[in-house]
Amino acid sequence: MSKRSKVVLAYSGGLDTTVCIRHLIESYQRDVVALLVDVGQGVDLRAAAGRARKAGASEALTVDARERFLCEYAWPALRANAAYQDRYLLSAGLSRPLIAALLVKTAHDCGADAVAHGCTGKGNDQVRFDLTIRALDPQLKILAPIRELALPRDASVDYAREHGIEFKTDTRSPYSIDANLWGRSIECGILEDPWQEPPEEVFLMTSAPAAAPDEPAIIEIHFERGIPTCVNGRRLDPVSLVRVLNEIGGSHGIGRVDHIEDRLIGIKSREVYEAPGAHLLHLAHRDLENLTLTADLLRFKKTVDARYGELIYNGRWQSPLRYALDAFVEETQKTVTGRVRLKLFRGQAAVTGRESENALYVHDLATYEGTDSFNQAAAEGFIEIFGLDLVTQARVQQAHGAPSSKASSAPRRTATRGAPSAAEASSPEKLVAQGRDRS
Ligand code: ARG
Repeated sequence: MSKRSKVVLAYSGGLDTTVCIRHLIESYQRDVVALLVDVGQGVDLRAAAGRARKAGASEALTVDARERFLCEYAWPALRANAAYQDRYLLSAGLSRPLIAALLVKTAHDCGADAVAHGCTGKGNDQVRFDLTIRALDPQLKILAPIRELALPRDASVDYAREHGIEFKTDTRSPYSIDANLWGRSIECGILEDPWQEPPEEVFLMTSAPAAAPDEPAIIEIHFERGIPTCVNGRRLDPVSLVRVLNEIGGSHGIGRVDHIEDRLIGIKSREVYEAPGAHLLHLAHRDLENLTLTADLLRFKKTVDARYGELIYNGRWQSPLRYALDAFVEETQKTVTGRVRLKLFRGQAAVTGRESENALYVHDLATYEGTDSFNQAAAEGFIEIFGLDLVTQARVQQAHGAPSSKASSAPRRTATRGAPSAAEASSPEKLVAQGRDRS
C-alpha cells in the first residue's frame, strides 16, 4: 500500500478546522499534520492538540510565535501606522502571513507536498494564506476544504455530528472570531445586521466604556526608534508589554471599533474589533512621530502608511513593495525615540504629553512669550513670495474677467465697502502693505 502524502493544516482548535482534518483524511486521502500557532489567541494549546489527534491528525505541532508575531509583524505595522480604512489595526491581517510562513516551513521540515487552511471563499484570510504560501514556495499545493466544498458555517456542525467529532453545542459561538495579541475580530450572528448594536457579549478584551472605572488612568509609553519598549518606566519584553496595555486599555474600554469594511473580494461587511493595546500604541506612536519628524516627511509618510495598511489587508506581506516600504519606514524611525503620556477614561484615550531628545518642537520658536527667537519680520517676505502666484493671477486674469474666487466675484459694492478685492490691488507690494495695515 502506498503511503498517503502529507498535508500540513493551519489548525486553530475550533470546530471548522477540526472538521477540515477529517475532510483532508477522507475526501483528500491525506495524512494530516495539524499546526497550532500561538499568536496569543488565548486558546489552551494542549487541549487543542488533543482534539486534532482525536479527529485523526497523525501529528499535532505547536509553535509559540507570540514574540515573533509582535517583532516581525506588529511592530513594522505600528511603525507604518497601518490602519485599514483608518480604523482596523489589522490583527487578523498580520497574523495570517506568519501562520502561512510557518505552514511552509513545517511542510518543508516534514516532507509534505501540500498545506491547508480552513478559510472560506468569501473572506480576506484565504487571500493572505494563499499569496504568502505561493510567494514562499510556488510548488506547494494549497488545499482549502471549506472553500472548495463551499461549506456554510452550520455545515461544520452537521459534518461533526455525522463523523463523531465531539464538540459542545453550547460552546459553538454564533460569531466568527479571530484573536491574537494585537486584537480580536468578531463577525457573523446578529452582527450581520449593520443596524444592530453589537451585544456586550461579543467583547472579551474590553469592558463597556460606561462600566469602566470613574477614575482615569495615566500611562506612559516609551519608544525607541518607533518600537515600544517601556510602560510606565518599566522595560518589558514585547509580549508582556502588549499584554499590559491590553489589560489597562481593556479595563477602560479602549479600542472598540464597529465599522463597514471593504473586503478585497468586493464584499462590504460589518466588522467589530477590539484592540486596546494596539490602539494605545498607535495613538502614542503617531504623536511621537508628529513631534520628531519634519513636516514634509510626515506628509509623505502618510501616503506610505496608507499603502502599507492596504498591503497588509490585501495579503501582500511577502512582496517587493513591502520590503521597499519597510526600508523607507526604517529610515523614518531613526528619530522616533521618546515617551508619550496618555489619559484613559471611559472608552477614550488621549495623549496629554510627549517628550523626545529629537523633538523638533523648539520652545523658543513656538512661544508667544518674550523669549521668542523667531524672526517675525521674515514672515512678511515669505508670505509675499509664497502668495506671488495668487497675486499675479489676480492682477492679470481677474482684471480681464477670467474666473475668479467667490469672494472677488461678489458684487463690487460689497467688496469696496470693506477690504479691497484682490483684483483691485494694483501690485503685490500694495497687497502686502494693505495686509500690514490690517494686522
Ligand atoms: N475582516 C477582518 C480581516 O479581514 C477579520 C477577519 C477575521 N477572520 C476570521 N477568520 N474570523 O482581517
